[in-house]
Amino acid sequence: MDGHPTYKLIVAVTEDWAIGKDGGMLIRNPADLKRFKELTTGHTVIMGRRTLESLPGGRALPNRANIVLTRTGEADVDGYAVARGLKEAKALVSASEDVAYVIGGEAVYRSLLPCVDECLVTMHHVRRPDADTWFPDLDAIEGWTIARKDAGGVTPDGVKFDYLTYVRE
Ligand SMILES: NC(=O)c1ccc[n+]([C@@H]2O[C@H](COP(=O)([O-])OP(=O)(O)OC[C@H]3O[C@@H](n4cnc5c(N)ncnc54)[C@H](OP(=O)(O)O)[C@@H]3O)[C@@H](O)[C@H]2O)c1
Repeated sequence: MDGHPTYKLIVAVTEDWAIGKDGGMLIRNPADLKRFKELTTGHTVIMGRRTLESLPGGRALPNRANIVLTRTGEADVDGYAVARGLKEAKALVSASEDVAYVIGGEAVYRSLLPCVDECLVTMHHVRRPDADTWFPDLDAIEGWTIARKDAGGVTPDGVKFDYLTYVRE
């Protein structure tokens, strides 16, 4: 590894820990997207190839160093660096970076959770058993605890949500 940044993970879930369906997000939440942008701008973001494809125009996020994990995809195009595995992804994080954000999707969350110190979870108070991608239930994994809970609000479609910060005990 080049540097020693803190790895944080940021995810939007439902109460049953669903995160996506048909390659897209489950819940429309502009306030959460704004917060995501504020938190991650100026930092490194690490994502899977499918999440890159789900972004507007399939393009990297502006004003952030983008690292895309893919075993099969083409190399470094359109403002992102490609990593073929976790070791390579970590090596690509700049030594001067203080925090790198893991931004999904399911495959990448599951792979990088052991490297992460903090999970910033937007918890939507609804259940979505129809989802096809999921986050591990942090309440069921020993070692993770909620350090902070901030009131979120209500989405335009009427879903209540909160911001939870999980840390390792
Ligand atoms: N709710 C949220 O906060 C949130 C956030 C992000 C994404 N999502 C949702 O999550 C879903 C996508 O999740 P997903 O699990 O299907 O896809 P993903 O994690 O975004 O991407 C999976 C792909 O990443 C590559 N990859 C993963 N691990 C790798 C490794 N260790 N080494 C090299 N390459 C690796 C592979 O690409 P190749 O196949 O190219 O080899 C794999 O097919 C979408 O519905 C998206 O909207 C939700």
